[in-house]
Amino acid sequence: MNFTKSISLQKKFHSIIPGGSHTYAKGDDQFPEFMPPYIVRGEGSHVWDADGNEFIEYGSGLRAVTLGHAYKPVIEAVAKQLPFGSNFIRPAVNELECAEMLLSFIEGAEMAKFAKNGSDANNAAVKVSRAYTGRDLVAICSSHPFYSVDDWFIGSTAMNAGIPKAVQDLTVKFTYNDIGSLENLFNQYPNQIACVILEAEKETAPVNNFLHDVQRLSKQHGTVFILDEMITGFRWHKNGAQKYHGIHPDLSTFGKAMSNGFSVSALVGKRDIMKLGGFNHDKERVFLISTTHGAESHALAAAMATMSVYKNEPVIEQLWKQGERLEKGMNRVISDHGLQDHIIVLGKPCCLVYGTRDQEKKPSQPFRTLFIQEIMKRGILASSLVVGYSHTDKDIDTTIEAIDGALGVYKKALNDGVEKYLVGKPVKPVFRRFN
Ligand SMILES: Cc1ncc(COP(=O)(O)O)c(C=O)c1O
Repeated sequence: MNFTKSISLQKKFHSIIPGGSHTYAKGDDQFPEFMPPYIVRGEGSHVWDADGNEFIEYGSGLRAVTLGHAYKPVIEAVAKQLPFGSNFIRPAVNELECAEMLLSFIEGAEMAKFAKNGSDANNAAVKVSRAYTGRDLVAICSSHPFYSVDDWFIGSTAMNAGIPKAVQDLTVKFTYNDIGSLENLFNQYPNQIACVILEAEKETAPVNNFLHDVQRLSKQHGTVFILDEMITGFRWHKNGAQKYHGIHPDLSTFGKAMSNGFSVSALVGKRDIMKLGGFNHDKERVFLISTTHGAESHALAAAMATMSVYKNEPVIEQLWKQGERLEKGMNRVISDHGLQDHIIVLGKPCCLVYGTRDQEKKPSQPFRTLFIQEIMKRGILASSLVVGYSHTDKDIDTTIEAIDGALGVYKKALNDGVEKYLVGKPVKPVFRRFN
């Protein structure tokens, strides 16, 4: 594979865009140093870069593109809307239609408000929880990597430069599947925690009724229970991970999969809390959320077209099925190479990721980079193994074949040293204090 054009673009990107991309997770420090494909086109589960290289892609659009790139019914709905205008001085009728449609999926949610980014929705959830409870503290599940670009979350990470200590001190942390850690927070900060926020599940599934206990404790302490469904929404189950796990958050937030890569996010939840952002109450007004582009008509058309596909086609079943095919095949080649202790497939089939381990079986960024490098050489672009509706059996089988080839190199690197096979610097975690 040749990356000549991409490498020349790379310099230009970094000269005018800090970090060389508009999303840290897409950054050069997340991929092999000398293989920086800049994408020019996507179709279904495939993408093409500036040098004409073709890849089968996983985790498309940071898990937003679930149906596939340029998915026909979605782009047709967008094209149909565009000649009618995209933004007006008063609400467009399709804002109501889209809100009704979203609420028909999320049982127990009574009101919805749209924005562009998941961060906006989570920020609104935190703000309205503070106003509703009259409390300042936010309890985040620190086992989950990301909730928002805003200070209440970024201040809690290793990359907290620029965020006042006073703001950082308002966020407290508990651990997934450790209900005692949340109980301790409630004991340590009585009547001070406005909300608890977490994802329903990441690589580790809930055990010992953890999610139900979070719900119970939140209720008991008068704290708002926020479920971040940015990744799990329209992936675990068409009615959300809340349906899959049988929990009832007060507020939940969606984005990513709800509009197949178009920019729509949503805060949904109980009327009692959500209405504080509206006119029908006599309490203090809450600036819930308000964005110029939040209800962009063609993006809402994309969301409705996407949700219709979820409603009428077995999207969720297919995500799970293709994930299972990939997981099974990958585990087979891993065991053929005897690498069970070194490459680990994690998560639910609809949202798989992988872990890379070194000779000591410890998580290793150099080995992760080597693995990405070797699958990329074989036409697979996969910082995760998150499948979409467009991944065909052939795509999955080609991926398994590529992984088989990559594992041959991985095994040699375990014997001879990773430096011998890795070209360039290893990848690094996004949240780190220094470059
Ligand atoms: C679980 C979760 N919550 C919130 C967000 C923030 O969404 P956005 O990037 O659209 O602001 C993300 C983004 O990756 C996420 O994964």
